[in-house]
Formats: sequence, structure tokens, C-alpha cells
Amino acid sequence: MIVTELIEKKRDGHSLTYDEIKFLVDGLVNGSVQDCQMSAWMMAVCIRGMTGKETADLTTAMMESGDTVDLSDLPGVKVDKHSTGGVGDTSTLVVAPLVAACGGTVAKMSGRGLAHSGGTLDKLEAVPGVCVEQPLERFKSIVKKTGVAVIGQSADLVPADKIMYSLRDITGTVRSIPLIASSIMSKKLAAGADAIVLDVKTGNGAFMETLEDARKLARQMVDIGGSLGRKTVAVITDMNNPLGMAIGNGLEMKEAIDVLSGSIPADDPLVEVCLTLGEHMLVLSGIAENRSKAREMLVDALASGKGLEKLKLMIAALGGDTTYIEHPEKLVRVDRILPVCAESDGFISFIDSKRLGTSAALLGAGRFKKGDSVDPAVGILMKKRYGEKVMRNECIAELYVNNDERLDEVLSMVKQAIVISDNQPESIPLIYDVIE
Ligand code: URA
Ligand code: CA
Repeated sequence: MIVTELIEKKRDGHSLTYDEIKFLVDGLVNGSVQDCQMSAWMMAVCIRGMTGKETADLTTAMMESGDTVDLSDLPGVKVDKHSTGGVGDTSTLVVAPLVAACGGTVAKMSGRGLAHSGGTLDKLEAVPGVCVEQPLERFKSIVKKTGVAVIGQSADLVPADKIMYSLRDITGTVRSIPLIASSIMSKKLAAGADAIVLDVKTGNGAFMETLEDARKLARQMVDIGGSLGRKTVAVITDMNNPLGMAIGNGLEMKEAIDVLSGSIPADDPLVEVCLTLGEHMLVLSGIAENRSKAREMLVDALASGKGLEKLKLMIAALGGDTTYIEHPEKLVRVDRILPVCAESDGFISFIDSKRLGTSAALLGAGRFKKGDSVDPAVGILMKKRYGEKVMRNECIAELYVNNDERLDEVLSMVKQAIVISDNQPESIPLIYDVIE
């Protein structure tokens, strides 16, 4: 096979075979296909698209580019959960222990924050002592003992994605549904779970800004999972507004603990999304007959504190100091807390969640280049939600600050991100659709 001919084939809108796709992916990893050639091919994919079969073939070839995790020696159905990335979305830290408390087996490999969106590993590390890099055997033994482990992806998992993602980042080829679907699903499949629940975000803080694109991405990922023998469900949820009130690693860990302690009302959007994802996880695991039975179990595990107990066990197994789970205020100790006040009476009519995510990152909660360190305690705590009435000078958000360097800039960004107007805005759905 000749690389240029495969690039031309996609450029001219034709479909590639599995062998041809595999040749490109393996070649990228072993060096016989150059970065510029892969970039050109991916640009052709962005413009021409791929068939469902090609997308599944690309996913398989990527998955096969490195190690795959075998969880078959663990009992029961191993279930994973993945969000396509959002702001103030700490659902993994709630739903993973909660599902384990209901008898599920949750073996999950998570990522770090990327630009404006948060990452579960950074939130876990807000607890001193936590080590998210664990050998595979240790990962499995934690899952076996506690029913839940969330760790970082091992270095040898899907090396093709590491190269492809970094090329896409700098060649204008990130936003392609088949490339996103194969990137996410190759990693999920390599991580070895039997069942996968996907939380596909749509809205101004998400990768897929329109519902139509979110649906297409969800459909493709569900089809890929199904074609490779994994039970896969996607829930499409809103990311026009931050999901929880907390944006920042320690703040989000504290919010997860507050949810698991039952101190956040059940109609809260974060709680609702967690319960919905948890329902699908329990049904796919074969533990609950249907979603309403699953919900009952999850609500019980919240009320009894069993979910919180699982989180604590998992944190302890990862080496973390569990006094931070018992006293979560320790997670968010900062030099000062600065209120952001409404400049007029009115209703919160728009929230730019991407900008809020970037603001929290500027305070030190996120990175702007690979390897930057994060400050676990800083971030933004929202005091009002979309649609709520506010009075002039009322506090609408608090900034948790340890470093004043870019504070003026952040303060004005946060003010710009939260729009107040005279009329109450239309309500926005929280959950749009479920793709099975
Ligand atoms: N997350 C991923 O892992 N890959 C993408 O392409 C987009 C989001
Ligand atoms: Ca987040």
C-alpha cells in the first residue's frame, strides 16, 4: 500500500478498507507514516466524513495500536462512564461510587482537564496523597475490593490517539464527528469495560455546540460500542450552563461529597444527571431490571450514605487523606474569597460556561499548556443559576483566590460570562435524549 494513494482516496470521497486504515494507524505509531501525511488524511476525513464501518474500523485499529486491559477475571459486568467534557461537571465522582454502592462494578480510566473543561484526575488529586497512576494489578484489586476505582489512563493505552490528538490540536482537525468518536471509543474499548454509558454534552461549554451534532456523535459512539460487543448507551445532556455550582478541582470534589452526603436537593441538575447516568449503568450491569428500579436503588444509596462510604474507600485505596472527605471544607482553603455582585436587578438570562471554565483555569484551576501545575483549592462557586432572579449588588458568584496576578481580568471575564436581563429567559432542557 502507498500512503499518498490512501490520502488521495479519502480526499476524493471514497471509503477505505479496514486493512488500509490499519496500515495508516500502525504506520503512524511505528514511524513509516509521517505526521504530515496523517494530518492530511485527517483533514480529508474532516471534509469528506467516514462511513459507520470506516469509523468502527478506525476505532479498532486505534485500540489495537497499544495495550488493552483485560478485566475478565473480575466478577460481574464491568461498567464505565464517560463525559465528552464540560464545566462544573463532577458527575463521575458522584455516580461511580454511587453505582458501586448499589452493587455495580465500576472500573474507569479518566483524563485531566483540557483548556476550559475540567478533568476527574485533577479533582481526585485535590485530596492530598491521592495517586492516580496505579499499576493495572493494583487497579483491579481496588475494583475487586471496593467495587470502584477511577485512575489515570496508562501510558501504553491507545498510543495512536496520543499522536493523532496532538496533530489534530494543531491542524484544525479536532472537530470531526468520526475522529472524536474513534478517539473516545478506542480509549473506552481498550480500558476493558463490558458496558459503557456516555454523557454527550451539547451547548456553549461543549465540543458539540448543536444538538444535531451531539446526536450524530452519540449515535456513532453507540454504534461503535455495539459493533465491538459492548453494551453502550449515550445520554445527551445540556452544557449551556455549568452542571453543578462549583468550577475548580477542590470545589468540585467538595460538591461531589456534598451530593453524596445528601446535602444538595434531589432536583438539583447535577444530582439529576448523576441519577440518570447511574440508572443506565445499573440497567446495563444487569443489577436493576429497569430505570425506575435503578433510581430507587441510587436514591437509597444517597440517603444511607453508602455512596459516600464508597468514595471514601476508593480515596483511601488511592492513598488519599480521608479526613478531607470527612471535612470537605479543607479542600477549598484559600487566601480569600471574592464576591462577584450583580450590577442590576433582573434574571440570569445567559451563562457562558466555556468562559467561566477559562476563568477558573486562569485562577489556577486549569492548565494552558501541557504539564502546567494546578492549584486544587481555587476556582469559582456559582451562587445563582440560569433563570434565577437577582437583585442589584447581590452576590452571584464567588471567586476562590490564592494568586492575584490576573484577578482583574478574571473578575471582568466572570461578569461578562453571566448576563442579567429584565425578562425571565426560557427554560433549557437538562436531558435532551437517550441513544441506545
Ligand atoms: N475527547 C477525546 O478523547 N477525543 C476527542 O477527539 C475529543 C474529546
Ligand atoms: Ca468539569
